[in-house]
Amino acid sequence: METSLQKNSIDVHEIRKDFPILNRKVNGKPLVYFDNAATSQTPQQVIDVIAQYYSFYNANIHRGVHQLSQEATDKYECARQTIQTHFNAKHSHEIIFTSGTTHSINLVAHGFGTLLKKGDVILVSALEHHSNIVPWQMLCEKTAALLKVIPMTQEGELDMHAFAALLKLKPKLVFVNHISNALGTINPIRKIINQAHKVGAAVLIDGAQACPHIKSDVQSLDVDFYVTSAHKMCGPTGIGMLYAKEAWLKKLPPYQGGGEMISDVTFDKTTYADLPHKFEAGTPNVCGGIAFGAAIDYMNAIGFDKIAAYEHKLLEYATKELLAIEGLKIYGTAKEKTSVISFNIEGIHAYDLGTIIDKLGIAIRTGQHCAQPIMDFYGIPGTARASFAFYNTFEEIDALVKAIKRAQRMLC
Ligand code: ALA
Repeated sequence: METSLQKNSIDVHEIRKDFPILNRKVNGKPLVYFDNAATSQTPQQVIDVIAQYYSFYNANIHRGVHQLSQEATDKYECARQTIQTHFNAKHSHEIIFTSGTTHSINLVAHGFGTLLKKGDVILVSALEHHSNIVPWQMLCEKTAALLKVIPMTQEGELDMHAFAALLKLKPKLVFVNHISNALGTINPIRKIINQAHKVGAAVLIDGAQACPHIKSDVQSLDVDFYVTSAHKMCGPTGIGMLYAKEAWLKKLPPYQGGGEMISDVTFDKTTYADLPHKFEAGTPNVCGGIAFGAAIDYMNAIGFDKIAAYEHKLLEYATKELLAIEGLKIYGTAKEKTSVISFNIEGIHAYDLGTIIDKLGIAIRTGQHCAQPIMDFYGIPGTARASFAFYNTFEEIDALVKAIKRAQRMLC
């Protein structure tokens, strides 16, 4: 009989059987995959959905009368509903398929080009990925709006007093990540959204790093825009979504013109399609969308509460074991953190560490993690980053610690 302990935790050894890639060897050693914040691995259940699509019903959608086109359209729209349900959007047409988080943010930034004027203030956090900085800088160049930065603390948390002061500037828009990809900080987004709304600012949350760990409810958060990518949560690359409140989607202009997004085209005038198609020009990533839905189903079948609880144990264990290594410093010590550890070891360049431990089969990420302002804040060129998923084990963390010590013996 299942005990209450089992009910509340995951069976990692069973789960690992779903991921064929975890059986492979790298440089003759069993793969230890700790680069989950860059991209997650794909379970057989999602691989099967992709194979099935190309084996049985690959077709263009929304415009074909034939059987294959209708099957593909049904599955694609069904995936949209899965995403709607998962994020608790009010309408399925509030879910726009995009190629990923970067595309989603660019879509919104482009739209705000028609809504901002010279001198308008927009707020970004110091903890952002380049994809949530550069599109807004481009927007400021176009509109002469002013980009102001919510500062961070040494612990890698947002300075909420400074945020409150910046809100006095009456920003039009605030954009913050739910979880920092470089440090793992979980930002207080409910508070941020609440406070921003009080001064009339809209809020965009970059959920790319949160979606593999946390189930977000966009209605309960009352967020204006929430964006993510499927490949961070067991789905394929090249597909993601923008959630936006219906009113915003009606207000923003289309991002790209082309087929699929129109209602009527003449050389005198074109009218646009209804939502969500207004924002989905061209043939979409049909298979990707369907596989995104399958990935969400897969993760929900395990359960986000169980995933978060297990990953938290991995984080605690890894933090303790890594801090016991002489000369190792962790960047990002926020009270609320997900399973990401950024670190450096005295006397060893992160890149050299990553290269050596790769020879031992261990995949981590090294460098700036597309978050150069965070590295500049700490005055470092980059970090080594280990990021854990629900299919990682405590034994793999032991292997990482052993590999780091071996690298230290070689390099120090
Ligand atoms: N943004 C991805 C990362 O954090 C690529 O690694």
